[in-house]
Amino acid sequence: MSLYYDVAPSGIEGLDQLIGGGFIRGRTYLVSGETGTAKTLFALSFLINGALKYGEPGIYLSVDETYEQFVSGASRFGWSIEELRGNGLLEVLIPEMDIVEKIREKEPSAIAKSLITAIRDYAYALGAQRLAIDPIAPLVTLEKDVQVLREYIRALIMGIEREVGVTTLITTEIPSGVSTLSRYGVEEFLATGVMVLGIGRDHHGDFKRVLFIRKMRWSPVQPGVYEIDIVPRVGVVVKGRAAGPISPVTSSIVSIA
Ligand SMILES: Nc1ncnc2c1ncn2[C@@H]1O[C@H](COP(=O)(O)OP(=O)(O)OP(=O)(O)O)[C@@H](O)[C@H]1O
Ligand SMILES: [Mg+2]
Repeated sequence: MSLYYDVAPSGIEGLDQLIGGGFIRGRTYLVSGETGTAKTLFALSFLINGALKYGEPGIYLSVDETYEQFVSGASRFGWSIEELRGNGLLEVLIPEMDIVEKIREKEPSAIAKSLITAIRDYAYALGAQRLAIDPIAPLVTLEKDVQVLREYIRALIMGIEREVGVTTLITTEIPSGVSTLSRYGVEEFLATGVMVLGIGRDHHGDFKRVLFIRKMRWSPVQPGVYEIDIVPRVGVVVKGRAAGPISPVTSSIVSIA
């Protein structure tokens, strides 16, 4: 338990003790990484642990797959989405792509507003305390102007914090071969914490999945590279500090290796 803030424990084995007990309630955290680095599994671990270990309902907002693909993928992993939904512990929001396309054509501040309203309505109906947006990219306006884009993402994050009040994880994809922290270069500044997921190789040449806690505002976090594991039915598990040097396979962890 944090001394100063009410925190939402992630329930991810090995993580909460590294970040002062969990995520500060009502704030937004970023999970970034290249493709296939377990961003989705991380976000779902946060929601499903929240539901099963702490009885906190959550909302999963995604546009990556259809509802059927998502439910059957999760079921292969050992997670019953339908059961969680049936128990009022999870809501899955997957807007149709044509709706997304229409939304994206609107003016950025109007898009942010309608998204916040929609999320708020679902969150109130469910009594949600957690939210995962996985990933943020499809919900971002088609606007090319960087300033407008940044303002939009800021409005979205601040609007969710102010009007919805849930603890939020947003995933963002780092383009392969680029050593930035996020896709738009602004998400990390708006988030209260940033966790970068990656893949590296140890000195035997074996592949390892890793987590780098890049920033955790108001929590005494020792920056470091942690080895993670993916465990069916459980989700992401943090095993501990990487035993030896890790050479990066995904470039987002280049700067820390
Ligand atoms: N049961 C499992 N055991 C071990 N690893 C698994 C299992 N199921 C999936 N994985 C691995 O987890 C990886 C990460 O999956 P995940 O979808 O969370 O990544 P992501 O970062 O969200 O990728 P994307 O860029 O596609 O959104 C998959 O590529 C797969 O190799
Ligand atoms: Mg994903």
